[in-house]
Amino acid sequence: MVQRQPSSTSTSPLLGASLAFNLAVLAWWASRVYFNVGPAVSETSIHSKDSWTRTASVEAEFAESFNCSGRGVVYAEMFFQGAHDAVSCICEDCFTGSHCEHVVPNCQAIVHSGDPLMFVPYWRQNSAASAVLIPGWYRIGYELTQRLIPGLEKEIRTLHKLVGNAVIDGRYLVVGTGEMQLMMAAYSTVSMEAEGLPVNVVIPPPYYDAYERQVKTIKPGTVTWGMPSLTLQNTENWIPLEVVISPNNPDGSIRTGALKHPRTRTVYDHAYYWPHYTPITGPLDDDLMLFTLSKTTGHAGSRIGWAIIKDHEVYQKMQLFVVLNSVGVSHEAQLRAAQLLRSAREGYQKAKNVGLDGVPTDYAAQQLLFHFAHTKLRSRWDRMNQLFQASNRFLIAQDRDPKYCNFFKEIVRPGPAFAWIHCQREEDKSCLEIFKEAGIVARGGARCGMTDRYVRLSMVDGDSAFENLITHVQALLMSGR
Ligand SMILES: Cc1ncc(COP(=O)(O)O)c(C=O)c1O
Repeated sequence: MVQRQPSSTSTSPLLGASLAFNLAVLAWWASRVYFNVGPAVSETSIHSKDSWTRTASVEAEFAESFNCSGRGVVYAEMFFQGAHDAVSCICEDCFTGSHCEHVVPNCQAIVHSGDPLMFVPYWRQNSAASAVLIPGWYRIGYELTQRLIPGLEKEIRTLHKLVGNAVIDGRYLVVGTGEMQLMMAAYSTVSMEAEGLPVNVVIPPPYYDAYERQVKTIKPGTVTWGMPSLTLQNTENWIPLEVVISPNNPDGSIRTGALKHPRTRTVYDHAYYWPHYTPITGPLDDDLMLFTLSKTTGHAGSRIGWAIIKDHEVYQKMQLFVVLNSVGVSHEAQLRAAQLLRSAREGYQKAKNVGLDGVPTDYAAQQLLFHFAHTKLRSRWDRMNQLFQASNRFLIAQDRDPKYCNFFKEIVRPGPAFAWIHCQREEDKSCLEIFKEAGIVARGGARCGMTDRYVRLSMVDGDSAFENLITHVQALLMSGR
């Protein structure tokens, strides 16, 4: 093959211009480095191929494009030791092989936990809007005076205003390592204010069982799980700490406090008060409200939660607990959370009056997180309902009546994160066992303070896990077992 020689006459002016441009950039760069002039970041430095972000971005893109047959992932750190062909994908349940190329036969549907993996396709479609790069020098100090990084604080406040789910102006914010840590901070705050009286944590069933297990790690006597003895119940000698989970896990119900004791202190867990799961009927304004990134964007592994607090003293005590328990919250996790919330906010700032008649992938393409998650849950719920409504053995035991949603500006049905199923027949003593025999690993109602006549099924797992659940439910209903 004959190589074409560049024609010196036609290209020389271009070459000259390009050389002059490069020299100018070099001179500008040298002046910045040696004389420290001008703004710190410019278009040129952002787009320079030799910027420090290059290796990190190449590694991240390599991991993202690795072939896992659409059923698994690899992460950049899996390549740190160099041997690329030794790396195997982390496969979704029911797939195996180094590229997740094999289907596991007769695979159970494991839906007991509620890992919010349904958000993965959204974030894959929005990698550019959600990525952060973290240099080695980023916020390495304790930063003892600054617990909540300013960018995250701004994004949390802006997102609540945009969604209209919580009053945030004039309120204090405490960031925690997930709601789990903030709940511990709340027990500690109430017990510090209890003047030596015992504090009893009360949640009417069915409830999120992790809180029961958490309280039971504390020595009884200071903070104790459940109502106190009957003789103490009507006295002033104890402090009830009611946890109101609304919408509730496991049944999605909207709750208000149930205890009438005059000294009741209340913590409101509003993890699921987002438009994906329930209609937003107005901004909540409770004294102590908890939210979590785990349910907002699906990033449960980042361990970011926040408390919105009215009272300054409560704020100080909650903050003190977080400081003494973990010396604050990982700056890297906060940065990532800020970027995720920012991308959600920016998507909505670009969009105007978008309806709900589209499909999740289209909404992901438009960077509309709540539309994506709401329509995904809606279609999952439609399929579950269709299956269960023909059954007189199993009942979906939760209220999903439609309501007007201020955020979507239309009437929508709640799409809870869990299906709460009741086994109706007298002889079906353990719904949990019936589902297990049908290859569905659910969470039994006994763990949620009820009986195993109820089971909880996750509606927020990954797409393949949900499809597997549907297949098993269909088989169970058809078998008449
Ligand atoms: C009601 C409720 N609160 C809190 C949590 C845990 O939140 P985090 O991941 O922020 O600790 C969960 C997790 O499933 C939950 O369902």
